[in-house]
Amino acid sequence: MSRKKKRSHRNVSFWTAGKSLCPNGSIFKVLYAHRLAFRTLVRKYSCDLCYTPMIVAADFVKSIKARDSEFTTNQGDCPLIVQFAANDARLLSDAARIVCPYANGIDINCGCPQRWAMAEGYGACLINKPELVRDMVKQVRNQVETPGFSVSIKIRIHDDLKRTVDLCRKAEATGVSWITVHGRTAEERHQPVHYDSIKIIKENMSIPVIANGDIRSLKEAENVWQITGTDGVMVARGLLANPAMFAGYEETPLKCIWDWVDIALELGTPYMCFHQHLMYMMEKITSRQEKRVFNALSSTSAIIDYLTDHYGI
Ligand SMILES: Cc1cc2nc3c(=O)[nH]c(=O)nc-3n(C[C@H](O)[C@H](O)[C@H](O)COP(=O)(O)O)c2cc1C
Repeated sequence: MSRKKKRSHRNVSFWTAGKSLCPNGSIFKVLYAHRLAFRTLVRKYSCDLCYTPMIVAADFVKSIKARDSEFTTNQGDCPLIVQFAANDARLLSDAARIVCPYANGIDINCGCPQRWAMAEGYGACLINKPELVRDMVKQVRNQVETPGFSVSIKIRIHDDLKRTVDLCRKAEATGVSWITVHGRTAEERHQPVHYDSIKIIKENMSIPVIANGDIRSLKEAENVWQITGTDGVMVARGLLANPAMFAGYEETPLKCIWDWVDIALELGTPYMCFHQHLMYMMEKITSRQEKRVFNALSSTSAIIDYLTDHYGI
């Protein structure tokens, strides 16, 4: 782990189980799942909470190298949830204890449908193992004593929604702080998101529920928030395309691109990541010809020259 500083937990106590994520009743806006530089960018544009990308708890516990490459944070990177892939309560609680001084909570990934993750017993296959989820939550609760430290889960839904509600109730009874629901089954990819199912889950829970899936603008976020009755929304691809989305921008403003260049260079972002994010952000505001040229650039200085020539930044 690098660039870490221990932080106080006192300003995030509103996450504790049973309380609303946003005490003033407004929409709670969450980014899934990015590295420090991109988290820094979206926090500038009204994102309330950020998650790290999924980290395999077993590797994190066993290897200092894995810790250093997978987890970087700094004082401004707050509030922060570290998401783990796990299938073992002891390893997960060990990982939680390691990150506890540098984060505000951990999340258990119960939604990743990738084949490798399912084969290892991680991700979406956990929605069929409510007892294991319960044991993992319990063990983290027992091992991490920091007040206000959250333990959340992110799930996909079952074909039979009763099973999802049962899973969520068991998790709630064990002390999970909130649940994020990507409203698709593990098999679904591009099918419409089942917001009606997210609504039913929310109606059956006392803890906060966050809705996720196919939200591409602040207007859509507010709509999903209202129709599901949830406490907040989580966005992944919408923010990749427009990191200023939560601040109400319909397209990535040039100022945001400029901010990304500043932040990424200041934090020493690897070139591939720096370039890739710009490609996502500029997707909507560049022509096909411009994309061809921009996507083929191969150095930071070439990118800065391009941006200066085309956008005056
Ligand atoms: C680049 C990328 C990385 C993702 N990484 C994770 C991850 O590490 N853990 C996870 O639970 N979901 C991950 N997801 C899934 C998203 O959290 C989200 O559930 C899904 O993309 C649907 O939301 P969206 O329509 O806002 O993108 C990722 C998605 C994208 C596009």
